[in-house]
Amino acid sequence: MAKLKSTFVCNDCGSEHSRWQGQCNACKEWNTITEMRLETKSDTSANVRSERFSGYAGASDSSLQTLDQISLTELPRIPSGYAELDRVLGGGIVPGSAILIGGSPGAGKSTLLLQVMCNLAATMSTLYVTGEESLQQVAMRANRLGLPTDKLKMLSETSVEKICEIANKERPKIMVIDSIQVVHVGDIQSAPGSVSQVRESAAFLTRFAKQVGVAIFLVGHVTKDGALAGPKVLEHCIDCSIMLDGSTDSRFRTMRSHKNRFGAVNELGVFAMTGKGLKEVKNPSAIFLSRDDEESPGSVVLVLWEGTRPLLVEIQALVDYSQMPNPRRIAVGLEQNRMAILLAVLHRHGGIQMSDQDVFANVVGGVKITETAADLALLIAMMSSFKNRALPHNLVVFGEVGLAGEIRPVPSGQERLNEAAKHGFTRAIVPMANVPKNPPPGMEVIGVKKLTQAIEALF
Ligand code: TYD
Ligand code: MG
Repeated sequence: MAKLKSTFVCNDCGSEHSRWQGQCNACKEWNTITEMRLETKSDTSANVRSERFSGYAGASDSSLQTLDQISLTELPRIPSGYAELDRVLGGGIVPGSAILIGGSPGAGKSTLLLQVMCNLAATMSTLYVTGEESLQQVAMRANRLGLPTDKLKMLSETSVEKICEIANKERPKIMVIDSIQVVHVGDIQSAPGSVSQVRESAAFLTRFAKQVGVAIFLVGHVTKDGALAGPKVLEHCIDCSIMLDGSTDSRFRTMRSHKNRFGAVNELGVFAMTGKGLKEVKNPSAIFLSRDDEESPGSVVLVLWEGTRPLLVEIQALVDYSQMPNPRRIAVGLEQNRMAILLAVLHRHGGIQMSDQDVFANVVGGVKITETAADLALLIAMMSSFKNRALPHNLVVFGEVGLAGEIRPVPSGQERLNEAAKHGFTRAIVPMANVPKNPPPGMEVIGVKKLTQAIEALF
């Protein structure tokens, strides 16, 4: 028998070492390195064994072809029954793809997939593999949620080889593995959930998905700091990685794709956890905008652009005299560095000094903003709190602020204004280049080029 080759992988960061050592060179953690067997030609490794599963037209073909010879018959996507999920996936489930759904425990991954699968089972062959919960627990949940339970096939199994064996006979169109952290491949000695197991299991299942043409949802738990256990080790082998976020004490869950081979990333899907499972939120702007009627200083509404649709959110700022030598700058849902830059711009180009003030900013509803289009809104919110002047209720703001105090245009200005008009806003302060020829009826759009113009228009 050929000598078995092995490598040593850190369970925390996934970096490889040629021999065992106590401390990982890359992340400096102790006792995290485990041995992982590599595939060799002569043995029955995962690769060789998964070769048995074939029969799918698009399966790996080792002859050479030029790009134009490859058949382009696009596989029709399968609608999941949830428009929010379909949007994040880029328009539905692609047959033969491997989709990772990550999230903290209790986010609702199992609930969502159970709902999706029960509904899909009516029209196609589906398989739900649970390694975490018992079959009875899943059945009880399905009953409580009032889902159709007569078609969905269930399997309680943690060995990847056995799962694929059964799936190869059953030939489901869609399959769920709940979760990738509890399944294991026989070849590897380390425990389920370790980097090497997670990586090999995911690779095995992805290969199987491609060969048989079954779409596989892999559930993955994230660790405290938000990385999928065995950070990044999974992302390269799967087709699509989705995160389901939201704290368990909030009703709302947001879903975003971080990698998608079949669509755009950063699409946002919004769900609400109810007593009857996860429900789609069709109009998210309405929930993030729950404002009371009284106008208060420091609060301003902005229009974000999330993937392919606009979203209205409220930013709140509190500026208060600081007792400390180093005043605090705290931003929740926004980037702290961005806030420091904006304060410098405000000082230099707006003549407003906040160096003896604590500045706090928050995005209402737990939304995380990564867009620079929020700059102007954040500046105005800080000004409003500093001057203790409330802004009118009917006002929306968006625009990027440059270091020279100029207001730069942002993409999709017209769509953002339309969304604001739909929600009853009648005044908008936007970058000059974003002022449309035909503003939405009933809306006054004020274009600004410089920070000073925006300040003049409001204060
Ligand atoms: P679950 O899908 O088990 O989470 P995950 O698989 O991501 O770990 O979600 C469980 C949480 O959702 C749990 O905290 C209770 C809550 N929940 C509801 O509020 N309503 C419901 O109808 C269901 C099924 C769950
Ligand atoms: Mg679960």
